[in-house]
Amino acid sequence: MWRGFRTAHPGTRAGRYLLIWKKSSAFWPDSSLSGTGPYSGHRRRANRQEFSKMTLAIIGTGNMAQGLATVFSTTGNAVVFGSRQPSDTAVSIADAVAQADIVFLAVPYDAAADVVKAADGFVGKIVVDLTNPMKADFSGLAIGFSTSAAEEIARLAPQAKVVKGFNTLFASVLQNRGQVAGTPATVLLAGDDTDAVAQVAALVNAAGLKAIVAGPLAAARNLEAVAALNIGLGYGQGKGTDIAPTWVGI
Ligand SMILES: NC(=O)c1ccc[n+]([C@@H]2O[C@H](COP(=O)([O-])OP(=O)(O)OC[C@H]3O[C@@H](n4cnc5c(N)ncnc54)[C@H](OP(=O)(O)O)[C@@H]3O)[C@@H](O)[C@H]2O)c1
Repeated sequence: MWRGFRTAHPGTRAGRYLLIWKKSSAFWPDSSLSGTGPYSGHRRRANRQEFSKMTLAIIGTGNMAQGLATVFSTTGNAVVFGSRQPSDTAVSIADAVAQADIVFLAVPYDAAADVVKAADGFVGKIVVDLTNPMKADFSGLAIGFSTSAAEEIARLAPQAKVVKGFNTLFASVLQNRGQVAGTPATVLLAGDDTDAVAQVAALVNAAGLKAIVAGPLAAARNLEAVAALNIGLGYGQGKGTDIAPTWVGI
């Protein structure tokens, strides 16, 4: 069912996104980080950075990878795909990570350990984890009460700065430039490294989506549960994939 998106969105392979160089027209709306709390002091610092000069590595070339490339096609960043099968449109995982400022993990959760190994532990890198550790039949999460996919990946890669994000959005929403039901989608984020979270939040907002920081990495347990709810609504309840969770009042 999950892989069905690929056939539902033909012609969106990695090729046209291998490297996207554009002059930045980046902007950072005020919603980049919610007003108070441990992340609020990082907004100005994050905004001062020259985001358009950052290179984004997307590990994986599937549905979410294509969606991310679409979303970031407006931010002026260079985007490189990393794959276990390098081609004329994707370099090796190690090469992609080596040139990246921010890495996006767009592979199945079960593949995360392989990717961490191929990336030599993502030492010093910001790694955005998109994975949802769903059971094989998508009836619910395989883990969740006492840990999360993001926390497990952080354990596998202790020198990486892991940020949970984008997992609550369907790939088709990202492929639609982050628009859901005609409005910018919300990207819920969680992470222990506040600077890393701030950078990802600023990038999200620069792409025209809305970042909401949910808290430390342990909050990924909730974000993964929200994603399971989203999948249940989209498929189990037949609401389709032009839906996405957000939070009113933030
Ligand atoms: N699709 C959605 O709407 C959605 C929404 C939210 C979150 N997510 C999460 O996002 C992640 C990617 O989902 P997707 O729909 O984009 O999946 P997908 O279309 O099946 O793409 C998965 C990608 O992962 C690569 N991969 C698989 N096993 C690998 C391994 N052992 N080492 C390296 N690369 C490997 C695949 O490479 P090959 O092409 O070589 O097989 C492929 O490029 C999943 O964790 C999923 O839970 C998906």
